[in-house]
Amino acid sequence: MRQLIIRGGQRLSGALEVEGAKNAALPILCATILTDAEVILRNVPHLQDVVTIVELLKALGKRVEQPERNVYRITAQGRLRAEVPAELVRRMRASFLVLGPLLARLGEARVSLPGGCVLGPRPVDLHLKGLAQIGAEIGLVQGGVEARGRLHGAEIYLDYPSVGATEQLLLAAAAIPERTVIRNPAFEPEVEDLAHFLEAMGARITWGREIEVHGAERLHGADYRIIPDRINAGTYMIGVALAGGRARIGCRPAHLEALLRKLRECGARIEEEENAISIESSGELQPLELETGPYPGFPTDLQPQMTALLSVARGTSIVRERVFPDRFAYVPQLVRMGAQIRVSDSTAIIKGVAHLEGAAVQATDIRAGAALVLAGLAAQAETVVLDEGHLARGYSDIARDLRALGTKIRWEDQD
Ligand code: EPZ
Repeated sequence: MRQLIIRGGQRLSGALEVEGAKNAALPILCATILTDAEVILRNVPHLQDVVTIVELLKALGKRVEQPERNVYRITAQGRLRAEVPAELVRRMRASFLVLGPLLARLGEARVSLPGGCVLGPRPVDLHLKGLAQIGAEIGLVQGGVEARGRLHGAEIYLDYPSVGATEQLLLAAAAIPERTVIRNPAFEPEVEDLAHFLEAMGARITWGREIEVHGAERLHGADYRIIPDRINAGTYMIGVALAGGRARIGCRPAHLEALLRKLRECGARIEEEENAISIESSGELQPLELETGPYPGFPTDLQPQMTALLSVARGTSIVRERVFPDRFAYVPQLVRMGAQIRVSDSTAIIKGVAHLEGAAVQATDIRAGAALVLAGLAAQAETVVLDEGHLARGYSDIARDLRALGTKIRWEDQD
């Protein structure tokens, strides 16, 4: 177990470029299953989850090289295997996205049901229902999925604009040389980045109220650069607003409209450039109401970080979580730091306090851990965040990034 020691009370200042988007890199790495040709991926983030998906690609028969820290070269070496090692899928939910591409290429696939963050039950029924609509015969055998069949084009309707289900279906449809339409899809920038990558491989995809895919039997290789991580950029913007100070964060402002609106509403001053934002804050923040939702709504992955910020706003705020009903497991940890938060019916009522108290707290998932680190910026004295590997799954080094903004923060191995 490692722990992060944060000394609170300093203002932030400096500049930071975030790495590539985790939630774009993972489905794009899965998409390399669709071709035997060489694929070069650039701006791939240096994360534990990327290591996991690379292990999985190698287990399926791909050769994966890493000529540079953020560059991967993927080629085929022999036949693809249809069986995915259960341990890797249970470790990380995104591994489930290999089901569609394996099925599209081999006509069969066996994948165990996913694990990943404990954000309440995280079913994959929409993935399976969609794959069945394009011709897959799906069987559930002892905690795993067996799928087979020759896939064909179809018009699919998603009951909920699920990010994963949309990506699963894009990955399969890209290899079907017919027309497939996905109705009520997710429009997250990471889904769009996957679509752009599939187009670079030879699929034709039109992106409107619904997504229309004309796949290809044989997809070719590509050399592709992944978009910046808007959730990590947003995490650091919230840190600056919360602690006070001024910083320039490299990102795509267009991917963060909902967050920028809310940060302005609580009093931060923000200037937007093409590939960066500058944010300035006095640290005196106004309370507000926010509700998470599918893109372009407020991202659920920034909900814990915003709740940490609102814990020290000048008044009472309301945060409604509409994507993962029980995404408030981190709240008792904030309360240990003196926050006044009540949660009921997936809604947090936050009564702002003048400041938080440093304490020893525990990260319960990637974004909960990030929220506790940000809370440490607003706390008096020292905060210790105990972390059993959650943070490294989503942030290549959150301490390095916050030190670049002037924070006194360090990792320690817990004895
Ligand atoms: C992706 O998860 C992200 N993960 C999550 O980020 C993110 O929070 C989420 O999208 C929402 O934006 C990756 O991209 C790897 P969903 P995903 O399918 O695909 C329900 C992080 O920290 N649902 O849009 O699992 C589901 O239970 C992670 O980086 C079904 O009911 O999200 C949830 O309530 C955390 N049936 C809602 O939809 C299904 O078949 C949204 O899930 C699929 C989903």
